Amino acid sequence: MAKYIIEGGQKLVGEVTVNGAKNSVLPILAATVLNNDTSTIFNVPNIRDFKIMIKILESVGCKIEAMDNFLTVDSKTLDKIRIPEELVREMRSSIILMGAMLSRCGQVEISYPGGCEIGPRPIDLHLKALKSLGADIKESHGFIYCKADKLHGAEIQLDYPSVGATENIMLASVKAKGTTIIRNAAKEPEILDLQDYLNKAGCKIYGAGTSVIRIDGVDKLNSVEHTIIPDRIVAGTYMAASAITSGELVIRNIEVEHLQSIIAKLREAGCLIYNNCTTLKIIGPKNLEAVESIQTLPYPGFPTDMQAQMMALLTIANGTSVLSETVFENRFKHVSELIRMGANIKTVGKVCVIKGGDGLLGAKVTAKDLRGGASLVLAGLAAKGTTIVDDIYHIQRGYENFANNLRTLGADIRKIF
Ligand code: UD1
Repeated sequence: MAKYIIEGGQKLVGEVTVNGAKNSVLPILAATVLNNDTSTIFNVPNIRDFKIMIKILESVGCKIEAMDNFLTVDSKTLDKIRIPEELVREMRSSIILMGAMLSRCGQVEISYPGGCEIGPRPIDLHLKALKSLGADIKESHGFIYCKADKLHGAEIQLDYPSVGATENIMLASVKAKGTTIIRNAAKEPEILDLQDYLNKAGCKIYGAGTSVIRIDGVDKLNSVEHTIIPDRIVAGTYMAASAITSGELVIRNIEVEHLQSIIAKLREAGCLIYNNCTTLKIIGPKNLEAVESIQTLPYPGFPTDMQAQMMALLTIANGTSVLSETVFENRFKHVSELIRMGANIKTVGKVCVIKGGDGLLGAKVTAKDLRGGASLVLAGLAAKGTTIVDDIYHIQRGYENFANNLRTLGADIRKIF
């Protein structure tokens, strides 16, 4: 398994450009099956999850032409309804294909995604919503069999503003007969990006970015070109890298509005941040300050996908910070690894109390999930001595050129096999 070897203590200085958002490109690629035509998608990230989604599209018969950072999907040749189990296992969010394939083909077979590294992640909300749209769903031997001769609009009240469920409902309902209303919908920027893509293809969706989304079913979709929004979590991770190394980074290709909750907490930790709409500069202080309270929440609250990276920098901040994870169960797998590096963290249920200040020491640690893995790299950048981060394939799921970018900014990091 590939590893990163990091010699800590280098200040990061320079400029970095953020890639397109993983959590936008995945549902939008799923949506490309809907139009029975071509979709050209720009600003796609060169990350592992993106490549898995391409393999899934190819496996059901789509033709893909990928260039440097854009690709064209032709879904006219789609001719299969079963999503290969091994690909679903590799990427849990392939469940997003359910709504899109059901709409395009009237049926889909997909293996149950099961648990994953950050908790059980059930899909009950997805299944309940698809049933209200008229799908007949049977589960047998770990597979989900969905069928619908004709989907119809419905009023759906989500018990929780689930990102994936909101996207699945949008994808399933764009060609349903009549109107669908999603209440308590997720408000993440990636939902708005999906709406933008779909509306360019001829759909009639209103309200994404608010908690009520209305979808008026249409008969036909057309070919489309779309540019993916910047990845706010990648941007936040580089911001945290600047903060933890007392560095000075200029971060380009961002949507500053998407970063406000992260900016607020990094300012509380003592960072200086200057920005316009698409670029920001972040200067990490000599000594970071503890942040009294951070709670992960659905957007526009502090993102759960930045919890681990924030924790890494709080381990060296002056004072005691309290961090609560309210979105996912079991998203503290990086804690034991940070403790190996000398961090003082106590966990009680969904809350971590972090006593910072003593500094981190290099150690051999293991990435257990994507963002937790990124947090260990950040910790390694600030630690005294050598840190070895094992199982970095998790990190490669969501960061394009991570080690190269960090090296260009002055980090001493290399990848070995
Ligand atoms: C998406 C993001 C992920 C991010 C998360 C929360 C993608 C590809 N992934 O994941 O990076 O961390 O949003 O911002 O976009 N839940 C249920 N039943 C369901 C669905 C969800 O109980 O049917 C629960 C989950 O277990 C979790 C919470 O709802 O506790 C939030 O999950 P959800 O918003 O659905 O996250 P994902 O779409 O899986």
